[in-house]
Amino acid sequence: MLSLIQISDLHITLSPEDRFRGVDTRASLNRVLQTREVHEAEALIVTGDLAAKDPHPEIYRYIKNVLDACGTSYHILPGNHDRSDLTAEIFGMELNAGKLNRFVDHPAPMIFMDSSTEETLPEDLAFLENALRHFSGRRPLLFIHHPLRECDHPYFDTHCVLNGREKICEVLERENGGGVRHVFSGHAHKSHSQTVSGIAYHVSPSTACEFYSTPDDVFDSHQMPGFRKIVVEPVLGGLDTRTIYLS
Ligand SMILES: [Fe+2]
Repeated sequence: MLSLIQISDLHITLSPEDRFRGVDTRASLNRVLQTREVHEAEALIVTGDLAAKDPHPEIYRYIKNVLDACGTSYHILPGNHDRSDLTAEIFGMELNAGKLNRFVDHPAPMIFMDSSTEETLPEDLAFLENALRHFSGRRPLLFIHHPLRECDHPYFDTHCVLNGREKICEVLERENGGGVRHVFSGHAHKSHSQTVSGIAYHVSPSTACEFYSTPDDVFDSHQMPGFRKIVVEPVLGGLDTRTIYLS
């Protein structure tokens, strides 16, 4: 079995003195990275919103230094507060039609979709179909910053939705016989899982703070950093996952 860790919505501030919703996000990220679960993991997957609000090269350099020092290999996705080109430049990644859509075979079959522009283009769907063909007969995990389904979050489910996400779900469901069974997202700063048409859609906590909402506003629920542990059998695709909060 293979252990992966998903961390999301780091919201690192440009200055160490700045706070994101009252949180020292550099300190909370460091607390997460010092956990036993992270050190025992085969890989970290970072699902976007690296920057607190506005992307800046110094934020990405800081995160790269911290992750490199952590010693666990990692994969990065940008969120809506990030810029794909800056992320690619600082982390030494290759842009594909301006985005960071890509897939990897190791340590587990994983597909990474870049939703940072908050829209789903035909190229994104073509990329996904190609990735699913590549993984034919296997069970790749899909990571994308934005949730692909509602997640019991009144504000985010209304105002912060990835345009065209239903088209991604259509592709996943069409290919479900041999394709993706688990999708992992961030963005909503909460823990949520539901299964629709045989696909489990997981939303994962932020390393900064938790959100709850009404249809009109978002509030900080508490300031405990959290992350997700994923234990997967990479050949047959069996999977167990849970979220972990630091008190
Ligand atoms: Fe986001």
